[in-house]
Amino acid sequence: MKKLVVLSGAGVSAESGISTFRDSGGLWEQYRIEEVATPEAWEANFEMVLEFYNMRRKNVLEVKPNQAHIDIAELENTFDVHVITQNIDDLHERAGSSKVLHLHGEILLAKSSNPATLHQEEEYYPINEGVIKKGETCEKGFQLRPHVVWFGEPVPNLPIAEEIVSTADILLVIGTSLNVYPAANLLYYTKPQCEIYLIDPNQVNVSHDLNVKVIQEKATSGMKTFKNFIQ
Ligand SMILES: NC(=O)c1ccc[n+]([C@@H]2O[C@H](COP(=O)([O-])OP(=O)(O)OC[C@H]3O[C@@H](n4cnc5c(N)ncnc54)[C@H](O)[C@@H]3O)[C@@H](O)[C@H]2O)c1
Repeated sequence: MKKLVVLSGAGVSAESGISTFRDSGGLWEQYRIEEVATPEAWEANFEMVLEFYNMRRKNVLEVKPNQAHIDIAELENTFDVHVITQNIDDLHERAGSSKVLHLHGEILLAKSSNPATLHQEEEYYPINEGVIKKGETCEKGFQLRPHVVWFGEPVPNLPIAEEIVSTADILLVIGTSLNVYPAANLLYYTKPQCEIYLIDPNQVNVSHDLNVKVIQEKATSGMKTFKNFIQ
């Protein structure tokens, strides 16, 4: 079976009703990134950060996977599919994808904010009723925080992602502006024979060194075009 690796970003969940990051109308225009998605923000005002992610979690729990997530899951009938996602939602899993690696964490889980264990932390906590409350702590008394990789924090799953991409026969990049590093660099880990496809309704800058077939469409219609190319 050929190995098909999907590298997804916020755009794959846009048609489910989750705002993307940098698109006009995107969630982040209403907030300054450094106010909500950095360790400094947590230090300065952890209650505001908790509130922001509690709202986003509510949104994730209200929406459903769209046809693009479903089509990606169904590719497992024909390919050895590995999804590497920058998304913190669980829509790939809910659509039925069985191998999903989250590069930037999972919003439905909490972890301790203990600085000593933060980056080796392997223990995640379920979140009751979708809300992390002020005063909810780990066993050592540190406030729980969302299991999300913030700007400036290490990406622990990156070496695993690099390994997965390096053995792909086909790489599908979908719904990512490729503005966030180190995820954007993953394209360069492909072997020379790997076919690379990119689905995005907007123009995404990729190096001409890579032979990328661009499908300039939204995720749901782009997946139909993509399936015609590969099947
Ligand atoms: N759903 C989520 O979990 C979510 C949502 C917003 C942001 N984020 C985080 O923000 C960071 C963003 O980087 P990114 O590259 O994923 O997102 P991004 O917002 O930087 O880029 C989104 C891309 O999706 C494209 N897009 C918009 N609508 C689309 C559609 N219907 N179909 C396909 N593509 C569409 C845009 O043109 C853009 O290129 C990541 O770290 C991610 O964790 C996650």
